[in-house]
Amino acid sequence: MKDLAGRIAVITGGGTGMGRELARQLVAEGCNVAMCDVSASALAETKRLCEVERLPQGLRITTHVADVSDEEQLLRFRDEISEQQATDKIHLLFNNAGIGGGGSMIVHGRDEWERTFNICWFGVYYGTRAFLPMLLKADRGHIVNTSSVNGFWASVGPTIPHTAYSAAKFAVKGFSEALQTDLRINAPHIKCSVVMPGHIGTGIAANTGKVQAGNESDALTEKQLRQARARLTAAGVDAAKMSDAQVEQVVRERVRRFVEEAPMTAAQAATVILDGVKADRWRILVGEDAKKIDAKVRETPEQAYDIDFFQKFAAEVGWKIAR
Ligand SMILES: NC(=O)c1ccc[n+]([C@@H]2O[C@H](COP(=O)([O-])OP(=O)(O)OC[C@H]3O[C@@H](n4cnc5c(N)ncnc54)[C@H](O)[C@@H]3O)[C@@H](O)[C@H]2O)c1
Repeated sequence: MKDLAGRIAVITGGGTGMGRELARQLVAEGCNVAMCDVSASALAETKRLCEVERLPQGLRITTHVADVSDEEQLLRFRDEISEQQATDKIHLLFNNAGIGGGGSMIVHGRDEWERTFNICWFGVYYGTRAFLPMLLKADRGHIVNTSSVNGFWASVGPTIPHTAYSAAKFAVKGFSEALQTDLRINAPHIKCSVVMPGHIGTGIAANTGKVQAGNESDALTEKQLRQARARLTAAGVDAAKMSDAQVEQVVRERVRRFVEEAPMTAAQAATVILDGVKADRWRILVGEDAKKIDAKVRETPEQAYDIDFFQKFAAEVGWKIAR
């Protein structure tokens, strides 16, 4: 789909990060956008940013509060779009919303594990189910599912368990790959891409805490403080001697570094994703780090979870997170 002007795009998780930048770039190309998020204030800010430039006449930007892990809410989101965008079809579906967390099967609670898995996997599955009828009605359609490098490599380093997110992102990749054949046979006017970003500078770490806690506060809950201590201890830091304020400070610093030390910004990532969509590429690796991990895991799959595999790779691409 080379020309996005006049099309209708749906974005989940449009409140911040890559979802927000996708919205801004789509609007700049004259594409109508409908986005959802769990945060009404983040959605309002994305809409404001989209409207900074003068919009083409008649272009629609609508925002909708919906949690993608809840099918009812996604169906309501779809119905609101039909009404507010006055349409029975959409052309682009970005299943982008996601959070981290739920890393360990042993240490983390089942609620947290399933919150992460349900958002990252069921968000994509329910999103596709909800909007498929509207994509089928369009002359052309494109489903863009955001997985991760954790969709083919289930690690963010040897000291951090990462089970829920990796399981969900592998599922997103498998689903998107299987859709290539299903769509080619049954709906050839619809394409599907799987997006696999490396490290992108977004607020996902802070947003994960908020979504897991179910509020929009920057303060850590008791549980999050306990988890941060455990994580520091696993990384060889004597966290027992640290005050709560010191632990919070370390977490805030990690969130800041995740954004500032990333090799790619959310806006650059959104451009790579849209270029991939326009070129009809079904696999979109985002960032040089993502391309390198992809090559390395294929080269030496048996070593992929060895400690020195991570260390060599992190040094090579300049990854400072998780060390
Ligand atoms: N940032 C990275 O390094 C990176 C790397 C690989 C993959 N990803 C993936 O990219 C996607 C976008 O992440 P990002 O980095 O832009 O993070 P982000 O936190 O900036 O944006 C994600 C947005 O999704 C929203 N969201 C979370 N849970 C939701 C739910 N249940 N329903 C609706 N909205 C919800 C958040 O409020 C947030 O606005 C995610 O799927 C993430 O897993 C990110």
